[in-house]
Amino acid sequence: MVRSNKIDMAENLIISDGNKADKYAVLYRQIESIANGEEDTIAKMANIASMIHHTFDFLWTGFYRVSDEELILGPFQGPLACSRIRYGKGVCGTAWKEKSTIIVPDVEAFPGHIACSSASRSEIVVPVFKAGSHEVVAVLDIDSSELATFDQTDKEWLEKIANLI
Ligand code: SME
Repeated sequence: MVRSNKIDMAENLIISDGNKADKYAVLYRQIESIANGEEDTIAKMANIASMIHHTFDFLWTGFYRVSDEELILGPFQGPLACSRIRYGKGVCGTAWKEKSTIIVPDVEAFPGHIACSSASRSEIVVPVFKAGSHEVVAVLDIDSSELATFDQTDKEWLEKIANLI
């Protein structure tokens, strides 16, 4: 019964009121509830990608998981994407290497940006750390079809969300 309540809640997720920070605050509580009730990392990533994506109507929202020396595509919402990214390559590989969030206001101005979609204009990539360590196990990548979509509010909340995985 508990499980079906959670599914109902996810299906009914509609966050349309308030400014960006207000939306993130509500979204965070919803994600926290989902994440705390699920142990499987892929299942959590899948629902988190969906919830972020549909709250903000981004172009692409998803995860890449660290596997040896590359990132491999994980759960996502949006158009087809590159399935593998090398360490240090593109925005995702750079966020992995630097172990920090990268905000790209204009993807054409980021050297080495990997254009999975020509519609992508700006991007944020947030590392996901193994619990209690500084080891990157995945990255959360979000693309927008508009320039300069992401700011410190997105960084702050998406890092909190990444900590729930
Ligand atoms: N733009 C990313 C590649 C992944 S796609 O945007 C989904 C990058 O440069 O890392």
